[in-house]
Amino acid sequence: MNDTESLESLRNEALAAIGAAVDLKELEAARVKYLGRKSALLAVLREVGQLEPEKRAVVGKRANEVKKDVGDALDHREGDLAARAREAASLADTFDLTLPGERFRTGHVHPLASTAEEIVQIFRSMGFEVADGPEIETEYHNFEALNMPAFHPARDMQDTFFVGDDLLLRTHTSNVQIRAMKTRKPPLSVLAPGRVYRRDSDITHSPMFHQIEGFMVDERITLGHLKSVLSSFVRAIFGKARKVRFRPSYFPFVEPGAEMDVECVMCDGKGCRVCKSSGWLEILGAGMIHPKVLAHVGYDSEKYTGFAFGMGIERVAMLRHRISDIRLFFENDVRFLEQF
Ligand code: DAH
Repeated sequence: MNDTESLESLRNEALAAIGAAVDLKELEAARVKYLGRKSALLAVLREVGQLEPEKRAVVGKRANEVKKDVGDALDHREGDLAARAREAASLADTFDLTLPGERFRTGHVHPLASTAEEIVQIFRSMGFEVADGPEIETEYHNFEALNMPAFHPARDMQDTFFVGDDLLLRTHTSNVQIRAMKTRKPPLSVLAPGRVYRRDSDITHSPMFHQIEGFMVDERITLGHLKSVLSSFVRAIFGKARKVRFRPSYFPFVEPGAEMDVECVMCDGKGCRVCKSSGWLEILGAGMIHPKVLAHVGYDSEKYTGFAFGMGIERVAMLRHRISDIRLFFENDVRFLEQF
């Protein structure tokens, strides 16, 4: 074979391979292949001494030129690839401020908690203070002292969970009336939000639910105070235009007893499925504290009178947010909770 011709094709092949190397690893492979100890070019240089003198000069010169060209091309390409690699690494280190942010979920206040808080704020603004009572309660505080002695038929209506001979899960927040009045003297106006329990479960009843109890005791407290405090409350929570009405009702711990209805928030009093065509929704029970209850806590019922009321927080939240199934509050499905 013509030695100079093969040198030219070797040079072209080497330069093409160097230009095609995409990273330093491929470039190193090209260096080994074209300039390494076992390369064709080095073999030519090793054997150049055996050629005839005039050929030796031509081939030797050209072979050294090709070696230099290939070496230069390798160095040049190496500089390029190294710079490119540095640039890529520094780009990977920088922030792209135009990328959309990662969306993460924050929790927020549960609709029952926010409704309770709203109710508490309204009564606080009328001078009520907040008190607490135990959820595991004695029969005495939950029933007896509230004028519901053993075998009183009213006990039947509160499907009670008993947890011991004398212990039960409180069926209402009215126990706080007894506990607060026993430890304090009038005047007092107290609000008591909390959990209560009954053996009942369907779309409007949950075995655990929330109530808010309120009561005010002093000299000369009348039914007029009860009506004005509760009417103010309804206007604050359901809007000024909502009508309210009081209906006589029976609770053993009050006399007289009443229930308060608010004009249906779904149909504005026209009559619908939710209000069973009556145009009214019952939202709380109330009344003047029974003299027997005052006697149980050691208050002189000739001197002091008071009113009390109790309402379900779920009921208020359902009406405010138009929720039809009470169980949604307790399933903690974020798709539901996120809407508030
Ligand atoms: N404790 C009653 C219940 O759970 C609600 C209630 C009615 C509370 C009348 C009161 C009241 O303080 O005066 O059904």
